[in-house]
Amino acid sequence: MAYETIIVEIEDHVALIKLNRPDALNALNAQLMTELCTALKDAQANEKVRCIILTGSDKAFAAGADIKMMSGKSFVDVFSEDLFGPESDAIMRVRKPIIAAVSGYALGGGCELAMMCDFIIASDTAKFGQPEINLGVMAGLGGSQRLTRFIGKSKAMDMNLTGRFMDAEEAERSGLVSRVVPVKKLMEEARSAADKIAEKSMINVMAVKESVNRSYETTLREGLLFERRVFHSLFATEDQAEGMAAFIEKREPQFRDK
Ligand code: HXC
Repeated sequence: MAYETIIVEIEDHVALIKLNRPDALNALNAQLMTELCTALKDAQANEKVRCIILTGSDKAFAAGADIKMMSGKSFVDVFSEDLFGPESDAIMRVRKPIIAAVSGYALGGGCELAMMCDFIIASDTAKFGQPEINLGVMAGLGGSQRLTRFIGKSKAMDMNLTGRFMDAEEAERSGLVSRVVPVKKLMEEARSAADKIAEKSMINVMAVKESVNRSYETTLREGLLFERRVFHSLFATEDQAEGMAAFIEKREPQFRDK
């Protein structure tokens, strides 16, 4: 499929999706969100793909929702079309792991898009922020919800109320990102994490993703029960027998996603 706002490359088991609106610092407009959802759906359906990397440019992962697209809209417009609601639901339905490789600005919807991924690897130039308050609006894709769960109330309030940017070092310290690497090493690091994941059993990988995500949706007691039952269910797979046998026989496992 020919895309205009993203670039998709599939190499070995990894689908690399690059946001590509350089003139607008990868601002998220309707076309980009639609193309992104299509690419993610394709990656989900493609048996070869075992991990997805979502990235932008060195200067910007994404500088937010497209302000020029939104500026003329009324309440009735954005409410009726449920601006970006269906797209964010579609992103959250992807069962394969998605790594966000973030360099430069990840602001507003850009920060929120990164948070929809399973984890974030940042370059040392990354800047995260929820500056919507400067536009007379507020976060609309998770900046007041996911960000609060990730970095806590005090920092989330600070970010959302002042609109200040958080650098990569603070983002790692606060738990927003899992690793920070020099900008030149960003894609190599993301690729190496994706390759590691691609070696695992896909059934197992999807179970882990579902279980960690469930922790945000439920009580601890229910979440622990969900986790334990999923753990039990993995004993129905051939990959459990293979993984444990390989450990005992001191060899690498040969997972078959069964
Ligand atoms: C549309 C954008 C844009 C955006 C940048 N551009 N961000 N266009 N929407 N979110 C465009 C600029 O208009 C400009 O194009 C070009 O990209 C380069 O940007 P500059 O501002 O000239 O670059 P710079 O001086 O380096 O500043 C970078 C920046 C700044 C700090 C990132 O661009 C900025 O503050 N952007 C807006 C960030 C923001 O408020 N994001 C939240 C959006 S609301 P032209 O053609 O004019 O030169 C949101 C809500 C999500 O995300 C919820 C949805 C449901």
